[in-house]
Amino acid sequence: MQDVWTKVDNYFGELLAPSDDGLSAALKENKDAGLPPIDVTPLQGKFLEFLVRVSGARRVLEIGALGGHSTIWLARALPGGGRVVTLELESHHAKVARRNLDRAGVLDRVEVIVGSALDTLSTLVSSGESFDLIFIDADKESYPEYLGWALQLSRLGTVIVADNVVREGRVADSDCDDPRVQGVRRFAELMAAEPRLSSTVLQTVGSKGYDGFALSVVVG
Ligand code: DHB
Ligand code: MG
Repeated sequence: MQDVWTKVDNYFGELLAPSDDGLSAALKENKDAGLPPIDVTPLQGKFLEFLVRVSGARRVLEIGALGGHSTIWLARALPGGGRVVTLELESHHAKVARRNLDRAGVLDRVEVIVGSALDTLSTLVSSGESFDLIFIDADKESYPEYLGWALQLSRLGTVIVADNVVREGRVADSDCDDPRVQGVRRFAELMAAEPRLSSTVLQTVGSKGYDGFALSVVVG
């Protein structure tokens, strides 16, 4: 099925999420710089843009910048005066991301913070920050902790989105000993048990294979 998923992804992607100089240069730059090829697809980027627009988010937090391809989609969807804060562990990735964001014309709206996201999140909480939309897309082992911090950085109505929660279906295998799958399962259990969240999961197929997004809104 992968062939047809890719074909359909390309069909709708070219129609609805066409590339431009900023986006295509970022993807090329990421590849040339040796970053892992795990950027969101164009249609997934457009989905992030959709979520920012429909939620009216002005303050966006991204956990896991990689080379900033998803960050460009998030930043472009912001209203005037809006900001994205994006957290990245690897200084090499952050450097590539800043260059990509600059070339795409959005660096003035984005703050790239290098370091362990768990440390940075704690600092953001201490400084009283809050966000309207939070996109979790970093190491899967830490998703449970990221959810806890995301809640502390939320207000009523904040949207929390997490990438890669299906992992080719392995998430439904309770015996899977891959720590990334276990991290996502624990994340899902916390999401389910959290009375402040209303949550769902959207399974996806496309050029990145079979995966999915978790979607939550803070309701209490
Ligand atoms: C992986 C991480 C991602 O964020 C992604 O979108 C796809 C794969 C990974 O670590 O395998
Ligand atoms: Mg991802």
